Amino acid sequence: MKPNSAANPLENLDEWEDDLLRRYPDPESIAKEKTVEEYRNYDDPKRETVKEFYRLNHTFQTYDFVMNKRADYLAFNKKEMNIWGAFDFLDQLVDDSDPDTDLDQMQHLLQTSEAIRRDGHPDWMVLVGLMHDMGKVLCLFGEPQWAVVGDTFPVGCAHSNKIVYPEFFSSNPDSTDERFNTKYGVYEPNCGLKNVTMSWGHDEYVYQMMKDYIPEPGLYMLRYHSFYAQHREHAYDHLLDKHDQEMFKWVDLFNPYDLYSKNPTPPDWKQLKPYYEDLVAKYLPSTLKF
Ligand SMILES: [Fe+2]
Ligand SMILES: [Fe+2]
Repeated sequence: MKPNSAANPLENLDEWEDDLLRRYPDPESIAKEKTVEEYRNYDDPKRETVKEFYRLNHTFQTYDFVMNKRADYLAFNKKEMNIWGAFDFLDQLVDDSDPDTDLDQMQHLLQTSEAIRRDGHPDWMVLVGLMHDMGKVLCLFGEPQWAVVGDTFPVGCAHSNKIVYPEFFSSNPDSTDERFNTKYGVYEPNCGLKNVTMSWGHDEYVYQMMKDYIPEPGLYMLRYHSFYAQHREHAYDHLLDKHDQEMFKWVDLFNPYDLYSKNPTPPDWKQLKPYYEDLVAKYLPSTLKF
């Protein structure tokens, strides 16, 4: 990745995910070694960069911003790659500041998918594990970090105070715009998330890329995996319909694989490759459009 700049305060995208682990520590490691308080009080200078990252995210993710990004990226007219070429492309995001400990993006995807496979879940869920962060290629198209990663939230209605660092929303123009700053804003009560526009990032982008190919529960996993304010805090029950509530059981099932499957031992790609080639061929077209 490019070195730090004002628009990109994180050294690498993993800093956001490391911070998620501080907010939602692995229940198993808590049982073994640490209390939740010890996790949350963990003193780390990266906290400040994560905070600055959220300041930018919450300030600039407006309803109009999202509409513009959707019009641009959901045309899928930037690049066409076969799936393995797409993984090579994604791996240009590899972090070079800490080569000993950081795994590249492909490793995170394989560790997620392999953990899902080990637990015997359906093969399309394994595929979701493999694909769920492909949308991070947005960074390689020049998007700033705050428009690619970070917790997602609905735009067009009031920001919940259960979203991380809610105080930064006071700098977001939507929070003083009366079209957008009421509980429901442009939406109707329990209108269903299919009618709700989320802040822009890698989740929505990969969902739109995959929406014709993967069963619906998998699409919910892709689309809402960073919507922590809902799947962890239930802050937007007033927008979800009954079907969303059912489908969020799948998002809840997926989330621990994303957060807690990190392992210092890289998966043996040579050995795994035939399985994944078959899996990809079963569900996805030969090339993906970006
Ligand atoms: Fe993600
Ligand atoms: Fe992930």
